[in-house]
Amino acid sequence: MTSSDNTVAIVGGTGALGSALALRLAGAGINVRIGSRRIESAESAAGELVTKLNGGGGSISGHLNSDAVGGASIVFLTVPLAAQVENLKQLKDSLTSGQLLVDATVPLAAATGGKPTRTIALWQGSAAQQAQELVPDGVVVVSALHSVSAVTLADPDPGAEVQDVLVMSDVKSAKARVAALIDLISGLRAVDGGPLEAAQIAEQLTALLIGLNIRYKTHAGVRFTDLPPREWK
Ligand SMILES: NC(=O)c1ccc[n+]([C@@H]2O[C@H](COP(=O)([O-])OP(=O)(O)OC[C@H]3O[C@@H](n4cnc5c(N)ncnc54)[C@H](OP(=O)(O)O)[C@@H]3O)[C@@H](O)[C@H]2O)c1
Repeated sequence: MTSSDNTVAIVGGTGALGSALALRLAGAGINVRIGSRRIESAESAAGELVTKLNGGGGSISGHLNSDAVGGASIVFLTVPLAAQVENLKQLKDSLTSGQLLVDATVPLAAATGGKPTRTIALWQGSAAQQAQELVPDGVVVVSALHSVSAVTLADPDPGAEVQDVLVMSDVKSAKARVAALIDLISGLRAVDGGPLEAAQIAEQLTALLIGLNIRYKTHAGVRFTDLPPREWK
């Protein structure tokens, strides 16, 4: 993590996953710029989250998506699949070379009227690879957070159980910076999931977890066993 990574943007930060992430990152000392298509929604979501913040040193502010990404070296994208392309096209002039885009999009079949326990195939292989095609040159896509339930993440006191977050990218240093942010959040452990193409597998896990959640009436996550501590470089 570099010192500039102390400020992040979350496009779609008014939603379930984005707002939970904002709360937990701010609670871990990060300054979070919540983005929305409407400034009123961004400001209102940020205001609500600030009332839930219980110290931690970070801040939460609300902005239009295009303004939120300015000044943030790491930009999270937490929007539904059906809105991923549209949102990235709108950000084309705002994202700049050197920024990291962390894509959490899951290509659930629900986006096209299908079941949330199934995924749809994308020509690029995964939603993350689709994102990489759409960002300006020099913006590195990192894929992460698919298996983390927004409900679990929103809980600032997750208890002793730690769940894993697969992090995929073709650029190792980008993976390391995002892993460092994830590791700041108690209850989460970043796991090196390999190159960006592995996102195709990680994105599928969510559909499986949604099925488990329906059958077990819970918010399941994943935990890999026998992994030694990782030296991220
Ligand atoms: N929820 C989870 O537990 C979870 C877990 C892992 C991964 N994910 C993935 O993370 C992404 C976000 O999930 P979510 O549950 O947070 O989604 P969500 O609450 O339904 O939506 C997130 C935000 O997307 C923005 N958005 C932008 N364009 C949109 C459009 N055309 N239609 C609807 N919303 C639009 C909205 O913000 P504005 O209206 O303010 O612009 C909305 O608040 C999805 O791809 C999902 O598969 C979710």
